[in-house]
Amino acid sequence: MNIPNLEDRRTRLAEALQPNEMIIIFGAPEPTYPRRFKQENNFLYFTGLETPNAAFVGYKTATSFFATLFIERQDPAMVVWEGAKTSPQDATETSGIKNVHYLDQLPTHLNLWMPKVKTCYVNKATGGLGSGLNSEQQFIRTLKDHFPNVMFQSFMPIITPLRACKDAWEIEQLSTAIEATGKGIHRIFTDARPGMHEYQLEALLRFEAMNCGLPHQGFFPIIASGLNAATLHYHANNCPVGENEMVLLDVGADCLGYSADISRTFPVSGTFTPRQREVYQAVLDINKEIISMVKPGVTMTELNKRTVELITAALKKLGLIEKDEEYRKYYMHSVGHHLGMDTHDVGPRDEPLIPGHVITVEPGLYIPEEAIGVRIEDDILVTEEGYINLSVSIPKEVAELEQICIRGDKQ
Ligand code: GLY
Ligand code: MN
Ligand code: MN
Repeated sequence: MNIPNLEDRRTRLAEALQPNEMIIIFGAPEPTYPRRFKQENNFLYFTGLETPNAAFVGYKTATSFFATLFIERQDPAMVVWEGAKTSPQDATETSGIKNVHYLDQLPTHLNLWMPKVKTCYVNKATGGLGSGLNSEQQFIRTLKDHFPNVMFQSFMPIITPLRACKDAWEIEQLSTAIEATGKGIHRIFTDARPGMHEYQLEALLRFEAMNCGLPHQGFFPIIASGLNAATLHYHANNCPVGENEMVLLDVGADCLGYSADISRTFPVSGTFTPRQREVYQAVLDINKEIISMVKPGVTMTELNKRTVELITAALKKLGLIEKDEEYRKYYMHSVGHHLGMDTHDVGPRDEPLIPGHVITVEPGLYIPEEAIGVRIEDDILVTEEGYINLSVSIPKEVAELEQICIRGDKQ
């Protein structure tokens, strides 16, 4: 099964809409070279199209659901710079959507449809304070001015439950991404040496993923040695790794738009110091206990609450805090998030998990005064029976790590 079941996704979208409702999803604009194009994930989810400057419109009438694509016209003068644009035939072949028009025909079609529409779901996310309106937001603003009787609402509450529940094809992509990430992590475990720079470890990671056929990472890899590991999203990756330091890897290859998200922490010398082992083992025990709680009905909030209890107890045992509320000094994030097309994917935090959800479990402890940062992150599929740890084969036990890291010419 090499392509997603796009028809099924659009059927589920149609079921989520009421008659006389419409959804408009714009694809990502073409970035100027040399930036890499990254499709908008909601557009990609329903169309499978990696075409820039496109729009998807789903319109539910009393009797039917119409899916229509709008793509850019070819400008012959630009072909030599940009290559040929997706043709309507290619767009239909990839997406299975039969109605394909050009983007400059979108206003005409909307003028035709809008008078009957009660609610129109659009992207209400903004670029943030002071960022101004992008062309999509300007388009929607004009549409609102023209059709004041239509209610414009965010499409995320409609799309989130669909995207949060992964089908077999999506699990396959995530598993492929995790496997390739595991190979990169393993290569780092075996090849890392004190004195190597973090970016040299990054190169090993990227090499292994590319060698598996996955050219891109889902997010910028975090390769953080020693004190750097106490910065949660450190990604300068430009320091040499010290003799007795641990290295925190938080990495994930991308497979057809689905990102792995794995953290491992290991001693570059091949042996944990007694204190490093103590802290590492505490985080590992919490990682395992939280994973074992995952099952339908549990919420992310509950998992996080339990994590805080366990972290607090561990910090007291490690002699780092005396009062419960002090745990925030050493643990500042939450224990996980939904995982999918976005590394921090859409999905509920306070509603019960259901089969098909994929979440991360990633407790950590960050102790800058000891130049220690440990995070251990696994990717967990919620099933009818409980869970499957999709990253179970990536080593994390102390003895395993010491064996793998010592192997090779370190012996
Ligand atoms: N890699 C970012 C995170 O774990 O959430
Ligand atoms: Mn991560
Ligand atoms: Mn994560």
